[in-house]
Amino acid sequence: MSDQSSVVTSEHFRYIAERTAREDDLLISLKQAAAAEGIPSIWVAPEQASFMQVLLRLCRAREVVEVGTLAGYSAISMARALPDDGRVRTIEIDPKHADFARRWVARSDVAGRVEVHLGAGMDVLPRFETDSADAAFLDADKASYALYLKECLRIVRPGGLVMVDNAFAFGELFATAPSDREVAAVRAFNETMAAERSLQSVIVPLGDGLWVGVKK
Ligand SMILES: C[S@@+](CC[C@H](N)C(=O)[O-])C[C@H]1O[C@@H](n2cnc3c(N)ncnc32)[C@H](O)[C@@H]1O
Repeated sequence: MSDQSSVVTSEHFRYIAERTAREDDLLISLKQAAAAEGIPSIWVAPEQASFMQVLLRLCRAREVVEVGTLAGYSAISMARALPDDGRVRTIEIDPKHADFARRWVARSDVAGRVEVHLGAGMDVLPRFETDSADAAFLDADKASYALYLKECLRIVRPGGLVMVDNAFAFGELFATAPSDREVAAVRAFNETMAAERSLQSVIVPLGDGLWVGVKK
């Protein structure tokens, strides 16, 4: 740890969340409805969504690509940080999740700014044009992250953002006998991301650890 760092505890995270999370009625209702329909509650934390909105506004993003829609929580959150003619193209492999997300996007304030693409990330991403996005957010199957990263480095323009969720491997990054089968993939991806020379990146300890990289 560097000389200037404080030890960040769960108390700090609570403090941060209480001061940055702004979740409106639509997102609260979306979460309740998703849970009622049996969709897992694995969306980003509100303070992480808030931070991603700050980053998108800073880079004046108009076009965002996401892999892993789930119920549409992060897609709607990100779309809210875009201008009126902005767009989030979000990819989801599970038809039930994609259908739920489409319904909730349609009743949201950003209905015209989110496109849900049903399919596997590696089937859909290659269809997106080079330099056609200002930012990308990866939040799906961890074993494919390195492939998604390669595609996103093509799709995101120079100066654009690449954000990747779960750098802390669901809280099991340092576990000696992790229970989640994706932990090894996250650890391997973290090394890939750290070695990626075309990005300047850092892990931000919000939510389950968020990689934030700027394409050089
Ligand atoms: C953690 S959730 C996404 C959460 C969402 N980004 C949010 O915060 O609101 C992961 C999603 O990725 C989807 N998924 C898993 N494998 C995928 C793949 N190969 N291609 C596209 N989506 C995939 C899952 O079905 C699930 O809905």
